[in-house]
Amino acid sequence: MCENVEKKKVLSCIQPSGMLTLGNYLGALKNWVNMQDEFDSTFAVADLHAITVRQEPAKLRSQIYSTYAILLALGLDPEKSTMFIQSHVPEHAQLSWLLSCNTQFGEMSRMTQFKDKSAKHADNVNVGLFSYPVLMAADILLYKPDFVPVGADQKQHLEIARDIAIRFNNHYGDVFTVPEAYIPKTGARVMSLQDPDKKMSKSDENQNAWVAILDDKDTIIRKFKRAVTDSEGGIYVSDEKKGVSNLITIYSAVTGKTVSEVEREFEGKGYGEFKLAVGEAVADELAPIKENYNRIITDKAELERLFREGGDRAERVARKTYFKAMKKVGFVL
Ligand code: TYM
Repeated sequence: MCENVEKKKVLSCIQPSGMLTLGNYLGALKNWVNMQDEFDSTFAVADLHAITVRQEPAKLRSQIYSTYAILLALGLDPEKSTMFIQSHVPEHAQLSWLLSCNTQFGEMSRMTQFKDKSAKHADNVNVGLFSYPVLMAADILLYKPDFVPVGADQKQHLEIARDIAIRFNNHYGDVFTVPEAYIPKTGARVMSLQDPDKKMSKSDENQNAWVAILDDKDTIIRKFKRAVTDSEGGIYVSDEKKGVSNLITIYSAVTGKTVSEVEREFEGKGYGEFKLAVGEAVADELAPIKENYNRIITDKAELERLFREGGDRAERVARKTYFKAMKKVGFVL
């Protein structure tokens, strides 16, 4: 009966910049998998974004393959979702120019990620790093999604994409759908295991601070055993117990138990037992992904076939939106 009802659309992307982390998984990727049946979904490896910081060409190339392979290993299905590599669809960079000319310098200057990243890469504060949220807006707006599943750190970029869409539509007429961020209740901000004031990030030099989706079981358990807690004891969520709170969040996001269920489960127990349980739950969740990945990454030809097909499919959608925007601005097509 409902067959003709059009599905709502979802789009998201991930950078191929090194190992993907448990933060990427709980903040975004897990939701992508959960959403692909219910939504008309589009997912991309955002390779153009990766060069806002220096990349070694051979390494970048291999990370693009491995990131695409991880998406498949998670259970994303190219038959159900459009899965592609951003640079294969030139309309992303092209629309980004149109949008740049409709974005103010002042609003870009407020982006906190730019401030963080330019401090971290002080020797290469390039214009791409500055205008990156405009490219991200183009990634999104080309596909007219209703929802964009991301972690909390991308919320500000999503808001700017919405502002750009609204402004463009008001000025030139309706072209873009104004998207909404879809941020999970638990796992939207997974923190470093070594410094719970910092976001878990693959660029952290301390290897114990983050868990990679492809880490093996022993490594995962070791990292959780070393996770920073506090000297007080007591397993409950509190601002004074950021390390423990982070572990509770991770356990809750992985097991699907609520925070109070987790607190009850570990009431009166020691940190050693708790950290081991979190490590094991995470390792069990990630093990099948690693197993799938090891199989998928060996077949490069199949990977290429899938991302080329995905790219063609994506471009058919992107081109329509892009031409419509061009026409509205006054270009001769
Ligand atoms: P990226 O590649 O840094 O991260 C990919 C996704 O993972 C989420 N994430 C986290 N979630 C919770 N806790 C963490 N510690 C954590 N670390 C990362 C991010 O929020 C993100 O959802 N600019 C984007 C990529 C992008 C994009 C887009 C996203 C490019 N174009 C269009 C959505 C729509 C980025 O750098 O994410």
